[in-house]
Amino acid sequence: MMARFSLSALVLALSVWNYGVAGIDLDIESEDSIKSVVKTIAADMFQYYSATPGVIISNIPGQLPGPPPTPAVTNAGYFWWEAGAMFGALIDYWYYTGDETYNNATFEALQHQAGPKHNYFPDNQTLGMGNDDQGFWAMSAMTAAELGFRDADDGEPQWVALVQAVYNMQLAKIDDVCNGGLRWQALEFLNGFDYKNSISNGCFFNIASRLALYTGNSSYADEAEVIWQWMEGVGFIDPKYNVFDGAGVKNGANCTEIYKAQFSYNAGVFLHGAAAMYKFTNGSAIWQTRLQGLLTQTIAIFFPDGICYEVACEKALVHCTIDMLSYKAYLTRWMAASTKWAPFMLDSVMPVLKTSAVAAAKQCSGSPADRPNGRMCGLSWSEGEVWDGTSGVGQEMAAMQVIQANLIQSAREPLTNATGGTSKGDPGAGTGDPAGTDPTVLEPLTTGDKAGAGILTAVVAAIILSGLVWVSLPDGNV
Ligand SMILES: *[C@@H]1O[C@H](CO)[C@@H](O)[C@H](O)[C@H]1NC(C)=O
Ligand SMILES: *[C@@H]1O[C@H](CO)[C@@H](O)[C@H](O)[C@H]1NC(C)=O
Ligand SMILES: *[C@@H]1O[C@H](CO)[C@@H](O)[C@H](O)[C@H]1NC(C)=O
Ligand SMILES: *[C@@H]1O[C@H](CO)[C@@H](O)[C@H](O)[C@H]1NC(C)=O
Ligand SMILES: *[C@@H]1O[C@H](CO)[C@@H](O)[C@H](O)[C@H]1NC(C)=O
Ligand SMILES: *[C@@H]1O[C@H](CO)[C@@H](O)[C@H](O)[C@H]1NC(C)=O
Repeated sequence: MMARFSLSALVLALSVWNYGVAGIDLDIESEDSIKSVVKTIAADMFQYYSATPGVIISNIPGQLPGPPPTPAVTNAGYFWWEAGAMFGALIDYWYYTGDETYNNATFEALQHQAGPKHNYFPDNQTLGMGNDDQGFWAMSAMTAAELGFRDADDGEPQWVALVQAVYNMQLAKIDDVCNGGLRWQALEFLNGFDYKNSISNGCFFNIASRLALYTGNSSYADEAEVIWQWMEGVGFIDPKYNVFDGAGVKNGANCTEIYKAQFSYNAGVFLHGAAAMYKFTNGSAIWQTRLQGLLTQTIAIFFPDGICYEVACEKALVHCTIDMLSYKAYLTRWMAASTKWAPFMLDSVMPVLKTSAVAAAKQCSGSPADRPNGRMCGLSWSEGEVWDGTSGVGQEMAAMQVIQANLIQSAREPLTNATGGTSKGDPGAGTGDPAGTDPTVLEPLTTGDKAGAGILTAVVAAIILSGLVWVSLPDGNV
């Protein structure tokens, strides 16, 4: 009796508490409501970069407070690539809402991190440089070109030329191991050089296909086709259009033992690139088949009950690294953007973006100790309004992207060079220093540097061995 009474008291207490933290109030049918909600979330996200107007917490434009220049062991900060992704999200925010609040900071970040060689390979980052890290900055520059973001003055880095520089550098890095494809890390002394993965090749595929569409130059499309076929040949994309993480190449392993975790950004980066190829080929049958296959499987794997879910780690959030907490931002961003190039996708994409957005807004109900505002977003959109206890750039970015994605049908068409795009290109950019600067040539690495470079991989290896594999496969779906 006593126990029963306590239980109902607890239930009552919980429901009262829930009422008080119902999440951000979103009316998904109202454009004004969507814009006002993402304005709040963008502001909360930007606080992690600059909490005081004009003052960047890290002191470096384009750098979130985090582990640079040497990768850290803990989740205490944000890796360089995530800042690149965040500024892409802020370009998207401006595109959807017209709010220019973050445009100057975004411009400054994307210009500064281009580095002195204008190739998103700044010396400060060489000790942790993955091809995917560089690729994320390039994809944000591509977004700047497609959405007509302010161009830099002559002599300063131009968006399309920056993407071409990254493309050319990476094209030169594709080797014969496993018959093609990029390695994860960009430089030989980094431990992840022994791993070929979907995200590095996905970023390259994505920029290649978008460069083809923007410039009209079919050389880029040819390489996108090569990478797609390689992904299928090596088995990273299987016949059901699952996109697996990657495989090792050490000691003759030759990409044969595939690490089959599925992450939402891997599916998303190929989906978006495939949509660009579909558009570039005027709706060819082959790209229609590939795009439809990816779309169907993406929704099956990552949208249980119509709510976007990071299947490899969300069930037990401790398995999500700080990187993984942001992946849903990219999948939902790319699903929406893809519909501009492949409108047939709208019927299946819009319903799940809507249910996910409504769920995400409810999850923005948190009050972490450092931000007790009752509206910080967790990642567990399937958990309703009970905040999951996590907060950070990734969660804010994901909530912002999925909510504003619901405005895609009234958003303007992305540009190409033939339809009003003004960004200048340079097809030869990045070819002078194809391998990127190897810091060992400039100055000998200290033992500390070497340990740092290795830790990133050690952490990833530990995660791989610690059970991500088994949580990565959705129940009954593979
Ligand atoms: C943004 O930068 C432009 C060009 O430098 C400048 O004219 C404008 O005043 C800036 N806007 C804000 C809000 O700082
Ligand atoms: C590299 O680090 C130095 C020293 O912290 C900083 O001044 C510079 O802005 C950084 N450059 C880039 C591209 O991040
Ligand atoms: C590596 O695997 C590919 C097929 O994925 C095969 O064609 C090639 O011969 C293999 N190379 C070695 C050295 O085993
Ligand atoms: C097309 O792209 C290729 C590959 O980067 C380049 O070599 C060629 O010059 C480009 N063509 C034009 C017309 O820009
Ligand atoms: C797509 O259509 C346009 C306009 O009709 C044409 O110029 C272009 O060559 C076509 N592209 C391909 C890859 O078939
Ligand atoms: C855009 O087209 C113009 C005119 O054909 C050409 O001069 C320019 O190089 C093109 N820019 C890009 C980025 O392809």
